[in-house]
Amino acid sequence: MSTAISPTAYNYKVVRQFAIMTVVWGILGMGLGVFIASQLVWPELNLGLEWTTFGRLRPLHTNLVIFAFGGCALFGTSYYVVQRTCQTRLISDTLASFTFWGWQAVIVGAIITLPLGYTTSKEYAELELPLAILLAIVWVTYGIVFFGTITKRKTKHIYVGNWFYGAFIVVTAMLHIVNHASLPVSFFKSYSAYAGATDAMIQWWYGHNAVGFFLTTGFLGMMYYFVPKQAERPIYSYRLSIVHFWALITLYIWAGPHHLHYTALPDWAQSLGMAMSIILLAPSWGGMINGMMTLSGAWHKLRTDPILRFLVVSLAFYGMSTFEGPMMAIKTVNALSHYTDWTIGHVHAGALGWVAMISIGAMYHMIPKVYGQKQMYSTGLINVHFWLATIGTVLYIASMWVNGITQGLMWRAINDDGTLTYSFVEALQASHPGFIVRALGGAIFASGMLFMAYNVFRTVRASNPAEAEAASKIAVVGAH
Ligand code: HEM
Ligand code: HEM
Repeated sequence: MSTAISPTAYNYKVVRQFAIMTVVWGILGMGLGVFIASQLVWPELNLGLEWTTFGRLRPLHTNLVIFAFGGCALFGTSYYVVQRTCQTRLISDTLASFTFWGWQAVIVGAIITLPLGYTTSKEYAELELPLAILLAIVWVTYGIVFFGTITKRKTKHIYVGNWFYGAFIVVTAMLHIVNHASLPVSFFKSYSAYAGATDAMIQWWYGHNAVGFFLTTGFLGMMYYFVPKQAERPIYSYRLSIVHFWALITLYIWAGPHHLHYTALPDWAQSLGMAMSIILLAPSWGGMINGMMTLSGAWHKLRTDPILRFLVVSLAFYGMSTFEGPMMAIKTVNALSHYTDWTIGHVHAGALGWVAMISIGAMYHMIPKVYGQKQMYSTGLINVHFWLATIGTVLYIASMWVNGITQGLMWRAINDDGTLTYSFVEALQASHPGFIVRALGGAIFASGMLFMAYNVFRTVRASNPAEAEAASKIAVVGAH
């Protein structure tokens, strides 16, 4: 560690690195989303090459948007929030820097191996053992940096945002390590240590909690810091935030079996997953309401502040997707929705509406701060981005609802003699217009990211190292 670094300054370098990569991976991951969405409209875009088929690029899309875009947003904001709310510098610049470079290495590894066809075939856990081990090492280091920083905090209490970030870090490590237990047969091929229904259960315990703790709890940490900050109001209810935290983490972990309704999984496990998912509505909405109500007395700010709009609309989509999820977890509803585009619509209501929009809002708040600027280069461009993101999300999810329900109903329609009314291809043909609207909505959303890149570029260019250094000075206690 360099002795030239003042202990009275925050480590903003690593925050800046993760923030920039959030934008870069966002563009690439969403651009790839638009490409695979287009493949479903024009299959010729598979290009006749095995590396560019939908089947190989789809997991690359999910890895890039979840782990690269979402992951960098979570690393960057958590390092920023933990330092500011604990009024102290990260415990180690070297370890923090290792997490940055290690994480980028995992992503580059995914970009190379997934199109080549190296995959465990477990959804969201596709990376083969060498990369999975690197990921685990980076993650444990992340935990050391984060919790180490909390232990040397200058403030008395641990701000609630850090509780959410902390749970996300601990549970992600647990899920990743347990689900990746496997027997290697060669350097890049291994087989799961579990078999049959147990393997499926562990995979969806992982998969669902990847949603619950990676795509939800971490971003709630973000919400608890950036919403009050941007609204310049204290969080609506600190007590509710504590209830929200404990209820959410206690319930989420049981809900995984809703991904395995009507499978070989024991029936009681499916029903338990369903019940826990329905109860999960309560803490999810508790959190959403806590975030929304923070704007009490500050609603007028929405008229002029597009960053706040990003944050508030993300909460609205969070509320919507956490209402839809428990409904889809009901077995009879799931009998219609499973395997259809309804699931894809639900995913992107959460992914675009909640995860991406809260991250974008947080970045617009944080980037000028860590570059020593008062605000982003252009508020007008943030506003343009906001509308592109909102319209894109609505087009995406509405088209997938129409497609999903159409598919579900067509698949189950039967004639009087018991034969199927529609062939699979007929349902696919009926889905084609929805695929076009989804690709269009996705393209609109992704184009907003280009406006963001330009805005960030101009903001960074306006900054000089002395300003950035001055911005990282630790302010007096209570000023976070
Ligand atoms: C411009 C934006 C995006 C577009 C056009 C897009 C498009 C797509 C498409 C076409 C699929 C495959 C659907 C299928 O198999 O039928 C997909 C899957 C998926 N995408 Fe996106 N996506 C976008 C952004 C995102 C973001 C930001 C996230 C997460 C933060 C995300 C997470 C996922 C996930 C988790 C799946 C797998 C869903 C499942 O298996 O049920 N996407 N996306
Ligand atoms: C109370 C909250 C939620 C519940 C109870 C819930 C429930 C569900 C259910 C029942 C499914 C369909 C499973 C299937 O038929 O295969 C599903 C799929 C999914 N949900 Fe949610 N959901 C919730 C919130 C969210 C949020 C906020 C996000 C994103 C940020 C999200 C992301 C996903 C993803 C990625 C899948 C697709 C998994 C796959 O098959 O690949 N969910 N969810």
